[in-house]
Amino acid sequence: MTPSPLRLVVIGLGARARTWLRVVAERDDVQVVGLADPGEAALKAAATLFPAAATAADAAGLLRQVEADAALLVTPPGGREAQIEACLGAGLDILAEKPLADDVGLAARYVAQAESLGRKLIVGLNFRYLPVTVALRQALAEGRVGQPEFARFTYERWRDGQLPHLNKYPLTMDQPMLWEQSIHHFDLMRHVYGAEPLRIDARTFNPSWSMYRGDANVSALIDFEGGMFVNYQGTWAGGVDRLDFDWRTDCTDGVLIQREMFSDLVAARRTEAEYTPVPMAPHEPWLTDARALLDMAVRAFTGQGPLECSGRDHLQSLLMLAACIRSSDRGAPVSIAELREETDQQEKSA
Ligand SMILES: NC(=O)c1ccc[n+]([C@@H]2O[C@H](COP(=O)([O-])OP(=O)(O)OC[C@H]3O[C@@H](n4cnc5c(N)ncnc54)[C@H](O)[C@@H]3O)[C@@H](O)[C@H]2O)c1
Repeated sequence: MTPSPLRLVVIGLGARARTWLRVVAERDDVQVVGLADPGEAALKAAATLFPAAATAADAAGLLRQVEADAALLVTPPGGREAQIEACLGAGLDILAEKPLADDVGLAARYVAQAESLGRKLIVGLNFRYLPVTVALRQALAEGRVGQPEFARFTYERWRDGQLPHLNKYPLTMDQPMLWEQSIHHFDLMRHVYGAEPLRIDARTFNPSWSMYRGDANVSALIDFEGGMFVNYQGTWAGGVDRLDFDWRTDCTDGVLIQREMFSDLVAARRTEAEYTPVPMAPHEPWLTDARALLDMAVRAFTGQGPLECSGRDHLQSLLMLAACIRSSDRGAPVSIAELREETDQQEKSA
């Protein structure tokens, strides 16, 4: 068992790390012993919060200076090879921000590396820990309005990727909506329905006014095991500057509708004209979910609780992204099994 407090290094100190540093600082059982980022300003700002922590431009340099138990990886998903290698090489467990990589084969390689070294690898799927997600999953599991058979999931947002507080790398990614945003949505579908996807018929595209080089739009019809269908539309280049979220699940006896990204879950039975709010725990945007995810990770790393959001589980959601891309290119549905076999082959021959 790892001695308490858990000695943590934080690799990548950009936009997302600000939330992480805040929630990490709240815990007595976590000690930030190291900080890494090639940007001097980011490093300096983080070091003011944790003055005793060692600092370096990258993970390898940091881990030559300091001993740690776990790493929080908050870097862009592309190009994490050296970071993962340095962390695993130093015997660290890892909590990595989603997506684990910008390529399924590469993500599978990280998972295999961690497993072969007996290290724990968790992916930061914070949306699973939102009280609204907990309430929706519970309502479905209890069969509050029967069994789900089909759903419509829409996420329509104008995301100004030039805003100073937002990361910039998605502006030049091939498929920014899929890798950066839909990954949360696809993971949520698997999580709340407790079912794996079988087949996806998708089209990705970019509206003429999009500021993203790659496709900002994803439309997909997803077949899940057990006969469940989800009709998905996601965009970062919506026609109006707002974020509209609507996730409606039609069940044998009624519907469950999540009308906002962080809250507002309602239910109705077939003959009820009015929706009834589904109660949920209070929530502070971005913090409640990050705290709960961190709590799970600390407990899993220190042998005090189960590991959730494993890297291996995450591969299933990444396969959904890859299936969308292939389906759009091919102009036809793509089975998840086709992509899974390819990834398994790559893993075996690596
Ligand atoms: N779960 C969520 O809700 C959520 C929200 C935002 C971002 N994210 C994820 O967090 C990750 C980081 O996103 P961000 O918004 O912070 O991006 P960002 O570009 O704002 O920050 C990334 C930081 O990593 C640093 N970096 C790059 N290469 C590095 C290396 N080799 N070693 C150390 N540091 C390095 C950069 O200098 C930068 O400061 C991404 O995977 C993103 O998808 C998750």
